[in-house]
Amino acid sequence: MTSQPEFPATRLRRLRYNPQVRRLIRKTRISASQLILPLFVRTGKNVRQPIISMPGQFQLSVDQLVIEAQEAFQLGLGGIILFGIPHEKDSTGSDSYADEGIIQQGIRAVKDAVPELLVISDVCFCEYTDHGHCGVINEKTGHMDVDNDATLELLALQTISHAHAGVDIVAPSGMMDGMIGAIRSALDSEGFSHLPIISYAAKYASGFYGPFRDAAESTPQFGDRRTYQMDPTAVAEQALREVALDLSEGADMIMIKPAMAYLDIVHMVQQNFPGVPLAAYNVSGEFSMIKAAAERGWIDEQAVAMESLTAIQRAGAQIILTYWAKEVAAWLRT
Ligand code: PBG
Repeated sequence: MTSQPEFPATRLRRLRYNPQVRRLIRKTRISASQLILPLFVRTGKNVRQPIISMPGQFQLSVDQLVIEAQEAFQLGLGGIILFGIPHEKDSTGSDSYADEGIIQQGIRAVKDAVPELLVISDVCFCEYTDHGHCGVINEKTGHMDVDNDATLELLALQTISHAHAGVDIVAPSGMMDGMIGAIRSALDSEGFSHLPIISYAAKYASGFYGPFRDAAESTPQFGDRRTYQMDPTAVAEQALREVALDLSEGADMIMIKPAMAYLDIVHMVQQNFPGVPLAAYNVSGEFSMIKAAAERGWIDEQAVAMESLTAIQRAGAQIILTYWAKEVAAWLRT
């Protein structure tokens, strides 16, 4: 910190004296181009099924997804991230790597209709498996847990099918050890060495995902995700190990999740890896809490949403995944 003369020579209120001065020295600016809108695609036609726990968000059939994507493009958003809700779930989540799977249909339709819109796909199994876990279950040993290495093979299949459907960036979110390496080598050997990976490198086992699990119908049918998602009470620097591993395996960009309760992690990762594009996921619970309080008139939604995104960016995230992306783009224009 540089030294400064004491009061009254120094009066920091001069820096806030009028809106013009405040505007001149503003540092954190949210722009639509850094926001990613999460969208849920499901089977059917003309379906816009409201997600009760996430006001204003919907499960969309492919035709409706395309309309939403067009809007996202017109608003100048950075892109969209897609989650698939298959018609049928099974033990290996086979819809997730089928050519005609729901997310593959969604990716193709959006890239056909709006080729210039950036499309990211969430690469995971929890929306596709009947047990709701992020991989296949190892039943042989009696230890009912996700089988890490068997899941890697299926993750590779899933990623390749997204790549063939035309996705722009893949976002593995399952917190399997070695997932980035497995996905990178699968992509490279299939001719997709140009396709970037944004890794959910530090993803915590969080209660803030509650509304999303309603939206994606992905609540685990037994147990929880604590053997793969990170423990919020573990030493914070474990996140640095996760990030370093993912980068060494070939991740191009890094994501931290959730955002608001993990701004220390966002900041620490940004400080330690300043050259790596960093994203944070402002997750469903963060969104729904503010929506619910705003519906009761207890807080001002726009002010609190913008303040949240400002905090996330100030902490060090240059990319933000948020359910408010469309609203923010509209607010920024007024
Ligand atoms: C897993 C995944 C989850 C979210 C994004 N990807 C859910 C989970 O881990 O249970 C949560 C996103 C949100 O809460 O908004 N595929």
